[in-house]
Amino acid sequence: MTATGPDRRPRRMRTHAPMRRLVAQTRPHRASLVLPVFVRAGLEAPRDIDSLPGVRQHTLDSLAGEVRAAAEAGIGAVMLFAIPESRDATGTEACDPDGILNRAIAVAVAAAGGELVVMADLCLDEFTDHGHCGVLDQHGAVDNDATLDVYGRMAVSQANAGAHVLGLSGMMDGQVAAVRMALDDAGHTDTSLLAYSAKYASAFYGPFRDAVESSLDGDRLTYQMDPANSREGLLEAELDQIEGADMVMVKPALPYLDVLAAVAAESRVPVAAYHVSGEYAQIEAAAERGWLDRRAAHLEVLTAITRAGADIVVTYAALDLAAWLEAER
Ligand code: PBG
Repeated sequence: MTATGPDRRPRRMRTHAPMRRLVAQTRPHRASLVLPVFVRAGLEAPRDIDSLPGVRQHTLDSLAGEVRAAAEAGIGAVMLFAIPESRDATGTEACDPDGILNRAIAVAVAAAGGELVVMADLCLDEFTDHGHCGVLDQHGAVDNDATLDVYGRMAVSQANAGAHVLGLSGMMDGQVAAVRMALDDAGHTDTSLLAYSAKYASAFYGPFRDAVESSLDGDRLTYQMDPANSREGLLEAELDQIEGADMVMVKPALPYLDVLAAVAAESRVPVAAYHVSGEYAQIEAAAERGWLDRRAAHLEVLTAITRAGADIVVTYAALDLAAWLEAER
């Protein structure tokens, strides 16, 4: 249709399904998926989470079943979060070998039977009574360096419980180096670190805070990143790699695909993205009303996050996605 040359018709590559399949540039795979799993102390039976349809708080028993389901679905990993029965100012239970998260790790590793990776959240917000990701100083501000000590001890207890990967989600400066050194000193040289490097202070964490019954009254603006900043995301990812991160993450995913693409272009380690609770809940709520095709929406989102450069995608839809990807084959 140009005046000078032959017709250029990109639609030729879209003529039928086998052709579209042949030329598809992005091929999400179930092995790249990570399923977040919540475990709550003191539950008698799994409990639904209203703002996260299809996601539940598990007992230690039902956790084992969920991990088996994840292994059978062929996904890459589970990421464990836990809700203790009691919280205190310093998050004591996080470092207790009998604490709910450490017990959950051991249960998940046993249930996984060597078939998938077990990741554990390394952060204090589920364990502190004030709900912040670190301990507080005498003025009530989050004390970065005092928190690093606790993270180091928490990391060793998670590694003792058998976790393969620790997800450092607290956004304290120097956390990767501090945790790496604590692990190495304890002989846990093979425990890997997934750094939540560019983690933004986001409104899209709302349903997650319901899921973990968050005690937070306030915000995390002094430690999580300002949504206005992308260069800073690159700096965070770079520092984490220098400090010894084995993987880096951008979170949330869709509102930050630009940051994800930029981090992926520069990173020397695998890059993960977290399609967070509020992003998931938007699709679920609209699908429930018949306003979106749930399956198509989740698959498109996964494709988009992968296309932007994620090697690993954390998503509450991991089990369904794995089944859909398999069915499409
Ligand atoms: C905090 C943490 C949060 C999420 C993962 N780890 C919430 C927060 O920072 O308040 C959110 C994940 C989601 O929304 O799915 N350790």
